[in-house]
Amino acid sequence: MEKQSKSPEKHSIKIRKPNFELEEDLAHDWYDGSAFKTAFENAFSLLFPLGEKSFIESVKYFQKEIKDPKLLDEMSSFYAQESVHRKEHQKYNDLVCKLRDYDMELLNKPQVKRYEWAKTTLPPERRLAGTVAAEHLTAILADDLLRNKDHFTNSGKHVAKLWYWHALEETEHKAVAFDVYAAVCGSIKIRRRALLFATHFIMKDVLRSTVLMLKQDGQLWKIRTWVDAVNFLFIKPGILRRAFIPWLQFLRKDFHPWKKDNRDVISEWESSIPIKN
Ligand SMILES: [Fe+2]
Ligand SMILES: [Fe+2]
Repeated sequence: MEKQSKSPEKHSIKIRKPNFELEEDLAHDWYDGSAFKTAFENAFSLLFPLGEKSFIESVKYFQKEIKDPKLLDEMSSFYAQESVHRKEHQKYNDLVCKLRDYDMELLNKPQVKRYEWAKTTLPPERRLAGTVAAEHLTAILADDLLRNKDHFTNSGKHVAKLWYWHALEETEHKAVAFDVYAAVCGSIKIRRRALLFATHFIMKDVLRSTVLMLKQDGQLWKIRTWVDAVNFLFIKPGILRRAFIPWLQFLRKDFHPWKKDNRDVISEWESSIPIKN
């Protein structure tokens, strides 16, 4: 039987039960005291509970077509990891909205609408391609966060640890949706188009929520906010600038997430996660 999983032979996807005390951090501009960086990261967090629900559903739909026991095993670890991510980000989002008086319904509105639309309108292969593309975006941002030490000035904060934990698990399972897609559809054209759509909608949602949050905080029209924005996105760390080349690689015909073997960063960060006893 042909192997459907293309992840490294002895690679494992671990299920962890982390324990983050977020309340104190989330009440403030926890990300280096910067209103922009804090709002941007909080806006990103808002997308995960529903986004990851959709990822799980789109992969599960094709479960019956997968025969490789290794990939089946990876799929169940993928569901388990994404379920814990959803739960922890829901806690994060509830807290941030409560502490900072944000309207969660208003913030989530475009994503909820799109989720309903995709569920009822998109063919399952395209929905899965959307997941594959979104998983690529999270994987490249995750690698950048884990590899470069210029993100958080204080990486000891609980909220920073939450982001490291999520990033390392995104790295562990980065090829699961991709391998399922390759086994059940594999169209490069659909995959490429999905990347353009996923990038557009994720950026649009994150920027919209960032602006709404900054408005609520009374920080939207401050010069420092937008100096931080340009620096953060394009200069130092310049997350969008640094993500550009890895983003492009997804468009290659022979792309596979494990062509970049970055298991080194997983072991480096694993010990810093606070685990529930
Ligand atoms: Fe996740
Ligand atoms: Fe993921």
